[in-house]
Amino acid sequence: MAEIGETTAYQALTKHLAKAKYAFVCPSPETQGRVVQKRSSDASTADAKNAPDFFGWNLPCTRETLQSIIPDAVFDSLRKASIITTSDSDKYRSTIRVSNFYLPNLPSQDPDAAPLYYIHSSFPPSSDSVFFGPDTYLFISFLQTIARHLPQAPSCVIDVCCGSGAGAIHMARTYPQAKALGLDLNPRALRLGGVNAQLANAKVDFFESNLFAAVPDDVKSLGVDLIISNPPYVASSTDGEDLPIYADGGAEFGLGISIRIVEEGMKVLSSSGAIVVYTGVAIPAADPGHDAFLEKLKKVEDAEVAEYTILHPDMWPEEIGKGAYADVCRIQVVGAVLRRNPKGEARGAEHRRQ
Ligand SMILES: C[S@@+](CC[C@H](N)C(=O)[O-])C[C@H]1O[C@@H](n2cnc3c(N)ncnc32)[C@H](O)[C@@H]1O
Repeated sequence: MAEIGETTAYQALTKHLAKAKYAFVCPSPETQGRVVQKRSSDASTADAKNAPDFFGWNLPCTRETLQSIIPDAVFDSLRKASIITTSDSDKYRSTIRVSNFYLPNLPSQDPDAAPLYYIHSSFPPSSDSVFFGPDTYLFISFLQTIARHLPQAPSCVIDVCCGSGAGAIHMARTYPQAKALGLDLNPRALRLGGVNAQLANAKVDFFESNLFAAVPDDVKSLGVDLIISNPPYVASSTDGEDLPIYADGGAEFGLGISIRIVEEGMKVLSSSGAIVVYTGVAIPAADPGHDAFLEKLKKVEDAEVAEYTILHPDMWPEEIGKGAYADVCRIQVVGAVLRRNPKGEARGAEHRRQ
């Protein structure tokens, strides 16, 4: 759990940023790296000049510039909570980024509505960085379309590999009556999850958990109506180089964790529940019509694929042709929805009657 002083500091910051109509849509690490490198290579652009430079691109600046970006009281609370730090050079830096939670909906239906912000790790990322980025935006956009697969409002939602909880928070805002759980291995992510849930006025219980290991017994016995996930899906490196925990999807070209989520999720899913997985699938250059994830999903026992949508045909193009992706022609990002197979249910009931 984040400390009270830390949460108060984030609340003061985001309130100020909302008033100033702050906007920052978090790009990919590749894009952020290029922008920051270009800015840093020229002394006239290397320092932050405004709030998106400081809290989005994470450029440094002097105390004097910072005074024009945030009020003194906000500065003091951020300093006290070590959210803003300083180095020997007299320059200040933000240890976090602030991004728009939702992609701007243009033309905005209510231009006066306060934007919702999301706190996540600063740039550049480290091995235990708290992820938020283009994948999260696509994942949330996909979640906004899945209601038709739910026979009624869910009573219990689990976001597994939740990071700092974007999916769980979105579902808790959509279904405020539901019990919402966020599960992740990374305690730093869960700590910021608590902050982000408070900023969004959403009730989410976060648990440190290897996939479903920490799901409480009472939740398991009632069954979960909705399991959602945007897990790591990058193929483990072929040269032994460690990937960050938020990226490494393990075996099967990075599909290992996604497949386990479906197989293990089926064991805790309620009879009318749904599993929604957003993931990336490496498409082999030698067989461009083959989607390994879809093939796996079709074989999951007692499940049927209710939807399988390609959400991005060519994600992370900079990875193609090297390392584990040497023989891959593109990575397609998909949104999959699985339901219990009614025939499987009937078969199960038949077995139970015998
Ligand atoms: C790509 S990030 C996505 C985070 C979040 N779902 C989002 O949409 O922003 C993947 C997350 O999975 C977590 N993770 C990786 N392996 C895990 C495991 N075995 N069990 C639980 N969480 C895991 C990482 O810590 C990371 O936060």
